[in-house]
Amino acid sequence: MTVRTTRAEARPRTPVLTLEGVSKHFGGVQALADINLTVFEGEVLALVGDNGAGKSTLVKTLAGVHRPDGGRITFDGEPVTIPDPAAARRIGIATVYQDLALCDNLDVVQNLFLGEELGVGRLDEVAMETRSWQLLRELSAKIPSVRTPVAALSGGQRQTIAIARSLLGAPKVIILDEPTAALGVAQTEEVLKLIQRLRERGHAVIVISHNMADVMAVSDRIAVLRLGRNNGEFDARTTTVEDVIAAITGGRQFTTDQVMTAEPAGEAGQENR
Ligand SMILES: Nc1ncnc2c1ncn2[C@@H]1O[C@H](COP(=O)(O)OP(=O)(O)OP(=O)(O)O)[C@@H](O)[C@H]1O
Ligand SMILES: [Mg+2]
Repeated sequence: MTVRTTRAEARPRTPVLTLEGVSKHFGGVQALADINLTVFEGEVLALVGDNGAGKSTLVKTLAGVHRPDGGRITFDGEPVTIPDPAAARRIGIATVYQDLALCDNLDVVQNLFLGEELGVGRLDEVAMETRSWQLLRELSAKIPSVRTPVAALSGGQRQTIAIARSLLGAPKVIILDEPTAALGVAQTEEVLKLIQRLRERGHAVIVISHNMADVMAVSDRIAVLRLGRNNGEFDARTTTVEDVIAAITGGRQFTTDQVMTAEPAGEAGQENR
């Protein structure tokens, strides 16, 4: 992987979103048990864990799809409840699901503004097209034309459109569920660069991924879930893939307080990552 991050020298320390003791069960299944998580401004937090670990349940709780059974969620220092997806967007949490929810037969502009069209009475096509170009330029997205039907775009371009659409609501937190799962090498790199651009713009990004190379390339911190519980947090600059995998598979148990934040051995150590 040749993607290099421009991780901040000092770790960003302004919390945007905090979860304390969040739980959720489905019948007899405890999907989330006493989850604690903090996401900071301008960081990429990877959320990892085996199948069934609770990642999607956690995301859907933040997206207003699931109501937690208990616990507290704080956004920008204020306690919040997220009863539905509209509330999540209002608060400033945008979620891009793996299926992207794009309409293949519609063009880029129509997809970006689906349900949020500009114009009173009749559509303001010029304003929407201008805003689309502006947004895609900000993301340095390589899209040939905003009048291209989305069906004609590559997987990476489609992911870009879905992320661009989530930015229209000016979210502070952007959650990406497996953004590179269906992508080839070049497209994966495009999307990882895009995630870095989101961080540079000050967004907090939560990325769910099963791909350790992508996780190590793009994230600042890594939070592990196992069987619905926290099982360790790692500083992506200093940890090893082996340690993260051990936490995912349960080879090692971590308590919530055990945060792996060993200082980097030195610049050389980072260069070799
Ligand atoms: N709507 C639901 N109804 C019943 N059980 C559910 C529901 N959603 C999730 N679960 C259960 O909750 C647990 C956590 O599932 P979740 O989908 O959050 O895991 P995940 O970490 O996203 O896994 P994967 O990597 O496979 O996507 C699993 O045991 C799952 O079967
Ligand atoms: Mg899932």
